[in-house]
Amino acid sequence: MRVKSKFYCRECGYQSARWLGRCPGCGAWNSLVEELSGPPLADRTTVVGGVPPCPVTEVPALEEYRIPTGVGEMDRVLGGGVVPGSLILVGGDPGIGKSTLLLQVAHQFSKQHQVLYVSGEESLRQIRLRADRLGALSAGLLLVSETDTAVIERHLRTVAPLVAIIDSIQTVTNSEVGSAPGSVGQVRECAAQFMRVAKTSGVSVFLVGHVTKEGMLAGPRVLEHIVDTVLYLEGDRHQSFRVLRGVKNRFGSTNEIGIFEMQEKGLVEVTNPSVLFLNQHPSGGVPGAVVAACLEGSRPLLVEIQALVSPAGYGVPRRMTAGVDHNRVALITAVLEKKVGLNLGNCDIYVNAVGGVKLDEPAVDLGIALALVSSFREIPVDSGLAVAGEVGLTGELRPVSGATKRVNEAFKLGFRRFLLSSRSAFHTGAGSEVLQAGTLVDALEMALKL
Ligand code: TYD
Ligand code: MG
Repeated sequence: MRVKSKFYCRECGYQSARWLGRCPGCGAWNSLVEELSGPPLADRTTVVGGVPPCPVTEVPALEEYRIPTGVGEMDRVLGGGVVPGSLILVGGDPGIGKSTLLLQVAHQFSKQHQVLYVSGEESLRQIRLRADRLGALSAGLLLVSETDTAVIERHLRTVAPLVAIIDSIQTVTNSEVGSAPGSVGQVRECAAQFMRVAKTSGVSVFLVGHVTKEGMLAGPRVLEHIVDTVLYLEGDRHQSFRVLRGVKNRFGSTNEIGIFEMQEKGLVEVTNPSVLFLNQHPSGGVPGAVVAACLEGSRPLLVEIQALVSPAGYGVPRRMTAGVDHNRVALITAVLEKKVGLNLGNCDIYVNAVGGVKLDEPAVDLGIALALVSSFREIPVDSGLAVAGEVGLTGELRPVSGATKRVNEAFKLGFRRFLLSSRSAFHTGAGSEVLQAGTLVDALEMALKL
């Protein structure tokens, strides 16, 4: 049987006999991929083998068994620990601390079990140096410097550790795949090979993946659909905080985060993170600074939002954000112009979340809006106030989830008042002052006494 290859557009499915730079069907660039096509499906009548489908009630129910890593913040993100035989991808920018974190996790595991740390990037001496620094010296931690996946697979099967760490997936190669280390084909094939090894041997495998901005290396994104769990280690390189975020988890929830601080002796867990992202202003409130009560997974986090609004010079006004979503700021600016009547069109606008944390939930909207107006009007917001609310396009304030947690965390940290969207349900102790507003205009009035 002759196998022919055809080119299909990934966007619209357009079929072509040869590769084209631009799809004639939908106009997308560089979207045609080659696929082998056998005879049409209707011709294949003699399919044999396979296991017949089984009713869901007859599948044996197994309690998901997890092994705690010993690093509390890591366990929180994983949903309690590592599931045996799972494949976990840990992505992040180069130099953010992935090797450090995983060596620490390996050390914790190795106190009771055997762990194999495979490095394709560093020599054993370099790893030993790092382990010295982290105090991660235990006999159960086995190191090997290797890049050939066939050799690594043999090690995994003969050593049979509880956990293996592959640092990094971009440096290992499967010699049967023709493409270069780090290319999409190579990275995918190697990850699939580790998936097979993990599933058949019961070894849990951590893959380290460098996020690559551009260039020839394939990033961890191309692996997200293959692996069981995807974690990203993020943070500002000039700040010491690192956030470990669950992006995908076949065995648990994905919206939990773990927070660490990079210190001389490695990453230290931060168990009460809400105070980290607050600035202490000695003189009470300053214009442009507002504390927003956010919720990351099940954990409340109080973060100071800072805004600077100043008249633009010539040309297009600048809009810059760090830690908050650029599009949300554009939307809130538009609502402030239209519903509150502020003339922000010819102002430069800068918005920043303190501490290098990334916030992507809509409940920070009210904090952003207040910070913008406070800076524009040069009116300070009471430093004893924390806020949470989503701004709608018609200027209404939408309710937020988990209002009780946000409110109580703020009072616990010494905030005296809380401003919340009306219709947000919450319970709090007596004597706490919670203000509620139905619209952005009302909220601004309450907070800034306009
Ligand atoms: P690393 O784990 O090598 O990053 P990745 O594997 O993600 O590329 O971390 C490198 C950075 O961490 C490096 O800039 C130095 C810093 N670091 C510390 O501050 N303290 C430590 O104890 C260690 C081991 C590293
Ligand atoms: Mg590294």
